[in-house]
Amino acid sequence: MKTVLVTGCSSGYGLETARHFLSQGWNVVATMRTPQEDLLPPSDRLRVLPLDVTDAASIDAVLEAAGPIDVLVNNAGIGLFGAFEATPMATTREVFETNTFGVIAMTQAVLAQFRARRSGVIVNVTSSATLAPMPLVAVYTASKTAVEGFTASLAHELEAFGVRVKLVQPGYAPTTSFTSNGQARMQGLIPEAYAPFAQRVFASFGKLQAVTVASDVAQAVWHAANDTSGRLRYPAGADAVALAGAAAVDGQRAPA
Ligand SMILES: NC(=O)c1ccc[n+]([C@@H]2O[C@H](COP(=O)([O-])OP(=O)(O)OC[C@H]3O[C@@H](n4cnc5c(N)ncnc54)[C@H](OP(=O)(O)O)[C@@H]3O)[C@@H](O)[C@H]2O)c1
Repeated sequence: MKTVLVTGCSSGYGLETARHFLSQGWNVVATMRTPQEDLLPPSDRLRVLPLDVTDAASIDAVLEAAGPIDVLVNNAGIGLFGAFEATPMATTREVFETNTFGVIAMTQAVLAQFRARRSGVIVNVTSSATLAPMPLVAVYTASKTAVEGFTASLAHELEAFGVRVKLVQPGYAPTTSFTSNGQARMQGLIPEAYAPFAQRVFASFGKLQAVTVASDVAQAVWHAANDTSGRLRYPAGADAVALAGAAAVDGQRAPA
């Protein structure tokens, strides 16, 4: 029976991904900064362990406690919406600590076991923001685009060892806690000069025809984890799939 470790399982895409792998009969290590045992259905195949991906000691401890794993899903992430001009560098570094360095640190921490066993899959959850530029998310997009480049390079580096590295690119999900979880970080990031523009951008979110739901992401992660082909990118959600198609037509990126 295979084992998956998922980061950021307290809500949203991570919680749904853990639930999906559990329903498919896998052993699941659901990690959270503050473990809550009652979020997922009780099972002797489920372990809920503490993990903060910005803390090296926490990463060492969770991998020690988890034992061998077959798949790592780097899902934990934080959002940031605001004018770049008003974004403190400390906030920019905070976003990168979780979204970029957290992913890189978790990946490095599992590589020795994957390489030695000549198997293993790492699925990095980025964003459809990497497929088409959007205003007022420059720092967030930078943090996720860095993961895209990191993952694409690593996929080549690890192929010879039988280790697969994948990208899941979710679209915008109004139903997860992503926006509310980032509210405090976003205070004061829309100065007066940007307010009318920001209001128009906010209003456009409410009119989106296609969005993503958590089950789209869980299924894309499941597909990526089990796909033995060399495919790298898996857009998740109707909006992300449409953007990936448009990006391919534009010639910005080869089709996934
Ligand atoms: N929702 C969207 O519109 C959207 C679109 C594209 C991509 N994404 C990406 O999808 C992923 C999941 O987002 P979501 O929508 O499910 O958001 P969410 O509901 O806010 O979930 C994010 C998860 O990450 C965890 N987390 C944050 N910082 C962490 C840290 N330092 N260490 C460990 N865990 C940490 C949160 O845990 P706590 O409870 O401890 O804060 C939470 O479990 C993120 O990488 C996000 O960037 C989201």
